[in-house]
Amino acid sequence: MPVAIADALQLTIDEGGRVCVLTGAGISAESGIPTFRGTHDSLWSRFDPMRLATAEAWREDPALVWGWYRWRMQLVRDAQPNAGHRALADLAERIPLSLVTQNVDDLHERAGSVVDAHVHGSLFALRCFACGCAHEGVLDDYVDGARRVEPMRCVSCGDRIRPGVVWFGEALPDDAWDAATDAATHCTLMLVVGTSGLVYPAAGLPAVARRQGAIVIEINPEPTALSADADHVWRATAAVALPLLAR
Ligand SMILES: NC(=O)c1ccc[n+]([C@@H]2O[C@H](COP(=O)([O-])OP(=O)(O)OC[C@H]3O[C@@H](n4cnc5c(N)ncnc54)[C@H](O)[C@@H]3O)[C@@H](O)[C@H]2O)c1
Ligand SMILES: [Zn+2]
Repeated sequence: MPVAIADALQLTIDEGGRVCVLTGAGISAESGIPTFRGTHDSLWSRFDPMRLATAEAWREDPALVWGWYRWRMQLVRDAQPNAGHRALADLAERIPLSLVTQNVDDLHERAGSVVDAHVHGSLFALRCFACGCAHEGVLDDYVDGARRVEPMRCVSCGDRIRPGVVWFGEALPDDAWDAATDAATHCTLMLVVGTSGLVYPAAGLPAVARRQGAIVIEINPEPTALSADADHVWRATAAVALPLLAR
């Protein structure tokens, strides 16, 4: 691990500081969950996520959007947390740590972490598109490779059940956003892992931490929109870097 990063972490421990970790799709890449902005060759690769993850897309063709989300849910269900997810759960046992994720999967939780904020919601927190009622029932069946799946219906109003994610153009859930800004404001060290830093307001959290005097460390194999403002960058994948850091 880069010496400067080891020193920054040691300083945080010595001074009784707090870590805030901001994760993005990259931390789940080594579990086999494709990122939005990386390359992938799925059956969906010719679709643009930015045009599926909107309320307009849903209104236009709910079965296409639900089919895409059912495919993503199935990928997550079939995937396992990787060494990066597990290292963060370990680290939280030893140092005060808040975990803020942009991911809609549940791999942090399945690795044993408490997630303080899912700023973009959760795939499996299903609710009605019209009345917002939570859908408590089981998930419908999904045949691998299906492109269109007719969404389930709300038991209260009959409208369609949508995934519990934040779509482009939608507001972030207040409680998650409050928890995220609180974590960024009160940390002394922020780890930014596997995010392209292009989706706001989440991408503004490292700047919030930095304004309060925190050291910002980026872990990402590629340069990002946040790299220039990080105090240290570590060009490694999450599953390689985080276990070294946690050790
Ligand atoms: N797993 C998920 O829940 C998931 C998957 C795809 C997209 N999304 C959603 O898409 C939005 C996309 O923004 P984003 O910034 O999170 O993702 P993004 O797709 O825009 O960027 C992914 C980033 O991860 C980096 N990366 C790739 N492999 C990595 C690895 N092994 N280790 C560390 N970093 C790696 C890439 O270089 C890139 O910077 C988010 O809002 C998120 O909700 C979520
Ligand atoms: Zn309803």
